Amino acid sequence: MIKFLDLYKINNRFRDALETSFRNSLENAHFILGPNVTHFENEYANYCGTKFCITTGNGLDALTLILKGYVALGKLNKGDKVVVPANTFIATILSVLHAELVPVLAEPDPDTYTISVHTDKAVFVEAKAVIMVHLYGQLADINSFQKLARDFNLLLIEDAAQAHGAISNLNNRKAGNLSHAAAFSFYPTKNLGALGDGGAVTTSDSELFEVVKLLRNYGSQEKYTNKTIGYNSRLDDMQAAFLSLKLKSLDLDNQRRQDIAKRYLDGITNSKLKLPFYDGSKNHVFYAFVVEVENRSDFTAYLNKNKVEWLIHYPIPPHHQEALKEFSHFKLPITEKIHKRVISLPMSPVMSDLEIQTVIDVLNTY
Ligand SMILES: Cc1ncc(COP(=O)(O)O)c(C=O)c1O
Repeated sequence: MIKFLDLYKINNRFRDALETSFRNSLENAHFILGPNVTHFENEYANYCGTKFCITTGNGLDALTLILKGYVALGKLNKGDKVVVPANTFIATILSVLHAELVPVLAEPDPDTYTISVHTDKAVFVEAKAVIMVHLYGQLADINSFQKLARDFNLLLIEDAAQAHGAISNLNNRKAGNLSHAAAFSFYPTKNLGALGDGGAVTTSDSELFEVVKLLRNYGSQEKYTNKTIGYNSRLDDMQAAFLSLKLKSLDLDNQRRQDIAKRYLDGITNSKLKLPFYDGSKNHVFYAFVVEVENRSDFTAYLNKNKVEWLIHYPIPPHHQEALKEFSHFKLPITEKIHKRVISLPMSPVMSDLEIQTVIDVLNTY
């Protein structure tokens, strides 16, 4: 069986260092907001090129705290509209709802799967913010959205949960440093994954930094002194240490993912499959390698028979989820078509050359 993502193998590369790190945490006993959190936050801000990084309990909270932070600063107000791509993972939309704002679902570009700049301009005139999702690891159309944000005075936010280390062709800046504020997830399957839940906000806005730092920790800077109505959403100190270890390999891992993508793109010649758009640069870190196929159930049965694992990112569009039934009447044909057709193939930095070739051969004989 060719695994979709072999998490054991991914983390086993760091086994000795992870075990040492765990033992250190046990000795130091700084489990919450200890030195490893501060160290990782400095390191990750530095890596992304932003002034600040504030870690959180997970990626959903990172997004929600950015929005709540802007509400606390008076830059957003209850009921303000926030444009999000309709084909995103539901967390992006939930964060808007949790912050008592109104999500406006915009169609994606059918080739890059990221939010389309061809959305009706009236949508942006009425909105106060846009969340660009770097879906599947590919940066959204930064150039257009930065201009749009300037023209319409919008807050520009990145959902970079799937794009750690992606670099813009435009200015060589990394995901997390292409907007006013960005959210990351360190869910174990992500390109930079913890051994549990984790997330982070990156920004160079000192006001937002201060308010998110308060919000993630009970509204408190000083123990038992609460300045605002906060939350408890902190990255474990132990997870921060694990992430510092794994961060050292992120660029090489992304490079390997890009190499695998290139081999897939060169090797897969089956015209029944629509291959993903890739310009060959570092602006796509291939969290997922997503192809489209007409008859997906037939294709998945074939992959099962040939022992190639697969996943669907995502089988049901957010506006058709029961949780979001208030949006169910929306007509989003591009999004709906994508959700019917997409399928993600094995992609991870620990795949062997033989496994890559086997996937290519299996796909070409479909
Ligand atoms: C695009 C996107 N946004 C947000 C999230 C939320 O991250 P988390 O699962 O860490 O809350 C995820 C992760 O699954 C994601 O893929």
